Amino acid sequence: MSAALTILGIESSCDDTAAAVVRGQAVLASVVYGQTSLHANFGGVVPEIAARAHAEKLDHCVEEALATADLTLTDMDGIAVTAGPGLIGGVLSGVMCAKGLAAATGLPLIGVNHLAGHALTPRLTDDVPYPYLMLLVSGGHCQYLIVKSANNFQRLGGTIDDAPGEAFDKTARILGLAQPGGPSVEAAARNGDARRFALPKPLLDRPGCDMSFSGLKTAMLRARDQVVAENGGLTQQDQADLSASFQATVAAVLVEKSRRAIDAYLALSPPAPTFAVAGGVAANSAIRAGLETLCKEHGAQFTAPPLALCTDNAAMIAYAGLTRLAEGDIDDLSLSARPRWPLDDSAVPMLGSGKKGAKA
Ligand code: KG4
Ligand code: ZN
Repeated sequence: MSAALTILGIESSCDDTAAAVVRGQAVLASVVYGQTSLHANFGGVVPEIAARAHAEKLDHCVEEALATADLTLTDMDGIAVTAGPGLIGGVLSGVMCAKGLAAATGLPLIGVNHLAGHALTPRLTDDVPYPYLMLLVSGGHCQYLIVKSANNFQRLGGTIDDAPGEAFDKTARILGLAQPGGPSVEAAARNGDARRFALPKPLLDRPGCDMSFSGLKTAMLRARDQVVAENGGLTQQDQADLSASFQATVAAVLVEKSRRAIDAYLALSPPAPTFAVAGGVAANSAIRAGLETLCKEHGAQFTAPPLALCTDNAAMIAYAGLTRLAEGDIDDLSLSARPRWPLDDSAVPMLGSGKKGAKA
């Protein structure tokens, strides 16, 4: 019975060191140590700094999660760890930590795909039945998946370059707004005129669900430079108008591509159509409102896990591991870390590498 299983989860694939204890669908503890301040001066995540910080913090993180759950390793049924995709040094730190614990305790080891962790979260939080449509949209991910079972994911499309969160962060940087960029751009956009700047919507005219956000970043830079050249600087109103125009463009792209993804998903005649969204960008109220309206139009249920379980965390890794363990699907101590690990092997591989590592 999966409901009785208790799993320790470990996550270290990007810039969050996390450990969690999950029993069935109950999150008994979820500890996340962020690294934002360590990377703040570098304009992005520095892989070597991230890996060292993970190696230093993982033990404490695991101890804190067990203490919060008021349990010890002997109460666990297995140890789940993110084995990819992500920054290889960080993934290795987590995998080595988990292997050490598994070797010392004799507990089963389960190497989890980080994206599967995100994709299965709606089952942990809302018991959403298969199949459902999932949009992962954060600083590191942007893709549509039809989740058919715990190990059957159909990738409908995603970004071919940057993730939208990266574009929000870059936009904040060029406008002189605080990091992380999402919340500050959203706040500035509230007083702005979204029609003042016409920005490109790359790939919108092409069929399918693939997206591109790197050209939008460049267009923002140009628009800012033009305002500065004409007026000698940026006023608060300029910041607001640029933010509003940028946010409306991202929202329009995500809504249109989601429309196509929903159409493809509804063609499967799911008994209880559900569109789930996860990732930091899902916190944006304009984007969220656009997606909620779209779901209403299509008769699909809209669901978004609470933000703490939407962004990187180890509870999702523990839960994905629990699902695998319940099916007897475990790894051994030869488990290796994978910088790239697409969920859907049949999908065309993504080119390039984002600020948070290789595209999955
Ligand atoms: O899921 P997350 O915490 O971490 C990963 O990227 O894996 O997402 C963080 C990203 C950042 O790029 C941040 O700027 C963006 O999510 N974000 C937002 C908002 N809040 C966070 N983007 C748009 N609007 C927001 N309100
Ligand atoms: Zn993630």
